[in-house]
Amino acid sequence: MIVGLPKEIKDNEYRVGLTPAGVRALTDAGHQVSVERSAGEGSGFEDDLYQRAGGQILDSADDVWAEAEMIVKVKEPVAPEYDRMREGQLLFTYLHLAPDRELTRELLERKVTGIAYETITDRRGGLPLLTPMSEVAGRMAIQVGAHYLEKMSGGRGILLGGVPGVPAARVVIIGGGVVGTNAAKIAVGMGAHVTIIDNNLDRLRELDDIFLSKISTLASSAYKIQDAISEADLIVGAVLFPGAAAPKLVTREMLKGVPNGGLIVDVAVDQGGCIETTHPTTHSNPTYYVEGVLHYCVANMPGAVPRTSTFALTNATLPYATKLANKGFLNAIAADPGLKAGVNTFAGRCTYEAVAVAQDLAYTPIDELIDRASALPV
Ligand SMILES: NC(=O)c1ccc[n+]([C@@H]2O[C@H](COP(=O)([O-])OP(=O)(O)OC[C@H]3O[C@@H](n4cnc5c(N)ncnc54)[C@H](O)[C@@H]3O)[C@@H](O)[C@H]2O)c1
Repeated sequence: MIVGLPKEIKDNEYRVGLTPAGVRALTDAGHQVSVERSAGEGSGFEDDLYQRAGGQILDSADDVWAEAEMIVKVKEPVAPEYDRMREGQLLFTYLHLAPDRELTRELLERKVTGIAYETITDRRGGLPLLTPMSEVAGRMAIQVGAHYLEKMSGGRGILLGGVPGVPAARVVIIGGGVVGTNAAKIAVGMGAHVTIIDNNLDRLRELDDIFLSKISTLASSAYKIQDAISEADLIVGAVLFPGAAAPKLVTREMLKGVPNGGLIVDVAVDQGGCIETTHPTTHSNPTYYVEGVLHYCVANMPGAVPRTSTFALTNATLPYATKLANKGFLNAIAADPGLKAGVNTFAGRCTYEAVAVAQDLAYTPIDELIDRASALPV
C-alpha cells in the first residue's frame, strides 16, 4: 500500500502521524511511505530520519495526498486539505465529526473512508487511541498546576509538596479515570495531599488499591465536592460521561468557597468542562480569573509537548495503521471489530451512529455496505 504522511497544518499543531520508527515498520512490511517535507519537524524528526527509515520525501502536500491510498494524520483535515481528499482513499486520524458538519459533508461527498481514532474500541470497550492523550493531559495538569500556583504566574504562591514544617498543597481531582489517575500519580509524586472524587464506587476501590493510603477518595456528590474544594489549592477537572457534554459539577456559586487565588485546571474542557465557569483557552492565552480563582482550560494540552505526544499517540496507532496496510481495509475491519467501530464514513454514507444522530444524517451500519463494497479499491 502507498501510505501518505502529510505535515499537520492546523493552528499550533506540531504532532505528526508517524515517527521514523513507524515508517520503518511499514516499509519493512513492503509498503511505500511518502512523507511531506518537514512533516516531523515540530516533533523533532528531521527529514533524513524518515529517509533512513525507508520513507520517500515529497515536496508538497498535494503530491503526498495525490498518490497515497492511506493518509495517516493526527488532526482532522482542515479546509485547505478538503480538495486533496479523493474517493476510496483511507483517512486514518482523529476526526471528531459529531460537531463538524462541514468536514462530515466533505468526507461523504468525496466518498472518503474516514476511520476516526477516537471511536476505535478495544476488547474491553475502552478507547485505546484516546487513552495516550488522556495520559499526557493528566500528567500535564499537575505540571501546569505547579507552575500556575507560583506567585509570578498569578497563583497563591504555594509549593505543591510543601516543605518540612509547612503543609503540602491540597489537590482535588474530580473524575478518577485516565486523566485523573495520571494527575494523581504526578501530584502524589510531588508530595501533594490528593483527593480523588468519582461517582463510580468500583473505580474508587481500584484507586484505593493503586495508591493505598497516599490519596483520599470521595464518592461524588455536590455536597462532598463543595466541601473538598473549599480547602483546595488546585482543582483538576477530569470527568467524562461518554458521548455527552461534561456535567457541571462545580457551579459559579461554589467557587466563592475556594480559597482566594486557588487554581482550576479543567482538562474536561474539550467536552465543555465540568466547572460552570470554564471556557476553552489556548496555549498562547491559557488562563483567566473568575471569582478570584485562576482557570486554566486549554483544550489541546498535549499540543504543548508534541514530541512526547507523538510518541505516545503513534505507539497506539501504528498497530492499526500496519493492520490496514497489510490486510487492506475490508479484511482489516473484518478481522477486528474494534477497528471497524472506528469507521465513521464509507462510500458516501455515515457509518457511525452518534455522528449521524448529531447531524440528522441517515445512519448506515458498515456491515450493510461491506458486501456491496467488495468491488471498491482497498
Ligand atoms: N484538554 C485536553 O487537552 C484533554 C486531553 C485528553 C483528554 N481530555 C478530556 O479529559 C476528560 C477525561 O478523560 P478520561 O480519559 O480521563 O476519561 P475516563 O472515562 O477515563 O474518566 C472519566 C471519569 O469521570 C468519572 N465521572 C463521570 N461522571 C462523574 C461524576 N458525576 N462525578 C465524578 N466523577 C464522574 C467516571 O467514573 C470516570 O472515572 C475527557 O473529557 C477527555 O476528553 C482533555
